[in-house]
Amino acid sequence: MTTFPRGFAVLSTLLLAGVAACAAPRDDDAATQAGELSVDAALGEVAEEDEEAIVRRIADEASAQLANAHRAAGGVAKRDAHPKAHGCVTASFTVADDIPADMRVGTFVPGKRYDAWIRFSNGSQADDRSNDARGMAIKVMGVDGPRLLASEGPGARTHDFVLSNHHTFFLDNLADYVRFMETVTTKGNPISFFLSWNPLELHLRAAWLARKFTTQPISDPLTSRYWSVTSYALGRRPVKYSATPCDGADTSGEHPDAADYLGQAMKAHLAGRDACFTFSVQRQTTPAAMPVEDPTVTWDEDASPFVPVGRVTIPRQTFDGAAQQTFCENLSFTPWHATQAHRPLGSTNRARKVVYEATSSLRHRLNGAPRVEPSSLVVPGGR
Ligand code: HEM
Repeated sequence: MTTFPRGFAVLSTLLLAGVAACAAPRDDDAATQAGELSVDAALGEVAEEDEEAIVRRIADEASAQLANAHRAAGGVAKRDAHPKAHGCVTASFTVADDIPADMRVGTFVPGKRYDAWIRFSNGSQADDRSNDARGMAIKVMGVDGPRLLASEGPGARTHDFVLSNHHTFFLDNLADYVRFMETVTTKGNPISFFLSWNPLELHLRAAWLARKFTTQPISDPLTSRYWSVTSYALGRRPVKYSATPCDGADTSGEHPDAADYLGQAMKAHLAGRDACFTFSVQRQTTPAAMPVEDPTVTWDEDASPFVPVGRVTIPRQTFDGAAQQTFCENLSFTPWHATQAHRPLGSTNRARKVVYEATSSLRHRLNGAPRVEPSSLVVPGGR
């Protein structure tokens, strides 16, 4: 059983992706994007007060942290959040033939098979035995339709599903996110954000959710369940996504005593057999109980069950060649790599539009790596 302070320590690096003493190197693309945040009121979106300034601040601090980490390590610039990959694998995403009529939108063309890249990651920790959020980022390729991001260049045809292994986030607004960041910046940990003598400044629910977000048991990234956490438009209806192992999720949490046990589990799994996930969509049925602006609210699965719309297959493979790992580290995943039919919703997603753009641009610039969306499973220079 993990204690609270340990969970908090995990969060201080996971979420604060960006606390730094020096000035942030501002990214021009991201500055432009900040001016483009808009809300779709008909789908339940409401802008927070001073939202663009708050988002800009999160992006600046995340960029400063990335630059500081790069200077300190003196090597390759890594992602500001989810820097450790357990593996980045080739996959296919096949849409079911019998997908419900109202879900035949955008990427979800009945029977269509897409190639995909998938990166599995830790939120912040280098040692897999430490509590953490775990990520599954799916990049589906060959998707047609009008794009959401102006910056991704002509010809981009990807749709990213960025998922985590718990269904809710722990903060419900960006103003609190900044206060949480400031606490870590000034105090070195977020404890006094969660706990305070002033009842008006207590964030006990956030503390409880933060612990849930970072303590889900995991034995193998390929046998865990993942959720989008935040909501997305599917045409004109808000939805959430989930990927569930086809044979059911393993929630035992049993694992060997090794710092890289998650990558080792993936290697052993894919040496012997394919991995498979059912990809599902949950409809928003009652907007009041299923808000798009609050990612701390679980959308009740009894009231609106997740409906299978496709299958993710990860064929048996080896995936640890140097060229493939470099290729994958130079990929950029963002909820905003998508077509307009799948627009991300809510303030957390609006912040991610600017923050991921800023940190990805900076990371690629520091590494001297081109920032391009892939169009096939071919790794330049071989695997
Ligand atoms: C305001 C809230 C958030 C901020 C500021 C934030 C920040 C970031 C940043 C800076 C990155 C690295 C981007 C890059 O350099 O390419 C990242 C990656 C990631 N984030 Fe978030 N994030 C937020 C919320 C979330 C939520 C709610 C989820 C839940 C699904 C999530 C899941 C992930 C995952 C899985 C990755 C790794 C993607 C990859 O493999 O490249 N994030 N996040």
